[in-house]
Amino acid sequence: MSNYHIKHLEEYYQVYRKSVREPENFWEEVAEEHFMWQKKWDHVLSWDFIKPEVKWFEGAQLNITENCIDRHLATRGNKTAILFEPNDPKEDAEHITYTQLHQRVNKFANVLKDQGIKKGDRVCVYLPMIPELAIAVLACARIGAIHSVVFAGFSATALSTRINDSDCKMVITSDGSYRGAKTIDLKGIVDEALNECTCVETVLVAKRIHSDIDMKSGRDKWLQPLLDAASTDCKAALMNAEDPLFILYTSGSTGLPKGMVHTTAGYMVYTAYSFKNAFQYKEDDVYWCTADIGWITGHSYIVYGPLANGATTIMFEGVPSYPDFGRFWEIIEKHKVNQFYTAPTAIRALAKQGLELVEKYDLSTLKVLGSVGEPINEEAWHWYNDNVGKKKSPIVDTWWQTETGGIMITPIPFVTPTKPTYATLPFIGIQPALMDEDGNELKGNQIDGRLCIKFPWPSMARTIWGNHQRYKDTYFSAYKNMYFTGDGALRDDVGYYRITGRVDDVIIVSGHNLGTAPIEDAINEHPAVAESAIVGFPHDVKGNALYGYVILKDVGETRDQDNLRKEINQIITEHIGPIAKLDKIQFTKGLPKTRSGKIMRRILRKIAHKDTSNLGDTSTLLNPEVVQDIMDNAL
Ligand code: WT7
Repeated sequence: MSNYHIKHLEEYYQVYRKSVREPENFWEEVAEEHFMWQKKWDHVLSWDFIKPEVKWFEGAQLNITENCIDRHLATRGNKTAILFEPNDPKEDAEHITYTQLHQRVNKFANVLKDQGIKKGDRVCVYLPMIPELAIAVLACARIGAIHSVVFAGFSATALSTRINDSDCKMVITSDGSYRGAKTIDLKGIVDEALNECTCVETVLVAKRIHSDIDMKSGRDKWLQPLLDAASTDCKAALMNAEDPLFILYTSGSTGLPKGMVHTTAGYMVYTAYSFKNAFQYKEDDVYWCTADIGWITGHSYIVYGPLANGATTIMFEGVPSYPDFGRFWEIIEKHKVNQFYTAPTAIRALAKQGLELVEKYDLSTLKVLGSVGEPINEEAWHWYNDNVGKKKSPIVDTWWQTETGGIMITPIPFVTPTKPTYATLPFIGIQPALMDEDGNELKGNQIDGRLCIKFPWPSMARTIWGNHQRYKDTYFSAYKNMYFTGDGALRDDVGYYRITGRVDDVIIVSGHNLGTAPIEDAINEHPAVAESAIVGFPHDVKGNALYGYVILKDVGETRDQDNLRKEINQIITEHIGPIAKLDKIQFTKGLPKTRSGKIMRRILRKIAHKDTSNLGDTSTLLNPEVVQDIMDNAL
């Protein structure tokens, strides 16, 4: 028996031990008992963290959509698979049953085929949170095309970079999108992006806001008429276990975004197994994750993980503040949500609104609360626990990453006693290690260090699209034979982990992963800017906000500084998206640099944090005088 569903703490420890001592036997049993294979594997795992190369279930053949859809048809055909809640609460919610999902995915898959998409081709999906998004993703998987979903809040430049990096042949988008009271001209953004892309042959356009848009003849096609004409039968492509399922971009500390490549079998097994346990999903529960499918959270825990378990998963198109800040609670009441998974930044924003909005709604169906994306601070944890969970719904603080594919450290609700701000224990099969800066593993408890993972797990990303060397350099070079996460963590006296935050130049703003380098590159495009440096500083809603230090080319620049600030944020919006805008911009004469020319961000960080009592070792500074000047003019 594979212990697919863990129900008490002793069982957790027992299953965990097995997953560490005999990982191959453990995952083989899970894979064997709970999934549908066209051909079983020859070999469960082969791995080498030096190359690095990891393969799970080699030799197996399957299609993930048969596992997420077809196999439920006999028993759950009329059960709601996807429950779509639109931006406008006056518009009806849509219940898509497993049978309907099957038909819609097959139709969409046939459209992709008719438009010349073949196994292995890359398809960029740039859609708002409407059913077509999940259906497009599943349709790609149905025929073995590799989907690359780009969050529909990204700018034209960010979109074209991602399309070109993986040579996408097609873009799937919509005429526009709703976001609270606003509408966004998505198709216009796609048109602008495609001026920079020669690889895209076809653009499929879903209608959402019914706006009048330009359709480029030969390239752009309305989706609906093609779907209407397509057949509801589409044989699932036979995929090898290690065939890529999707690419998803995440920011690095330097350079272009990294196209993380996730493969088929291991990703499916791990996301399904972790979904079941981390949320204790039971048949007939209604599960809601508020993330966007443009992020890994949506891939793994709105689409694949829930559907692989035959769950009902909500897709919400809107924002927490529209029509008012009670929207989340209204949806929980309306759809009788049992598991609710959101981000600390949303919790903090909602906590600011006063309790009347929460108390107005019946939240009694809630059983499990989840948190993801950044460390959850103590205050937010208690507010969530007291007012949303009414002290009876355990909070699962789930730590993981785009790269890990699935949840890595988390309490199992009703199994693991929770502790505010702690992600608690490693999930089944996950072997964390804390390292010091010299590469030694820190054994024992009550210790903090850099968080690494010692052993492969089924849903880990296998490479960076087109750049395996960068994959090796970023994740497998800091510590020998280990995957390095980029996060710091501490382990308390009972072995619980608390994630302390990034130790590299990635800053998490409102749960969004932002690299400093691309933002600095964008700022430096402004004709008046000579150089810039970005750091994070604490923000009560966003967790971190961005603080930019900017050197102007003409030191005597007489232009209105507030205008310059606006222009800089405008450039950032165009290059990356509004999420990367700076909260504070300080114009400065210089930046603190080491003799080798490296910006000492540590000092800039301290100034932004208003923590300048001890700046640490500044002996390697080339220009110590600028530090005082920056401190005197700090914002
Ligand atoms: C980074 C990964 C995976 C879901 C969304 C983010 C931070 C994520 C937690 C948590 C503390 C967290 C880490 C991680 N992070 N979850 N529960 N507690 N920090 O995915 O965009 O790839 O970002 O988010 O710093 O490295 P991502």
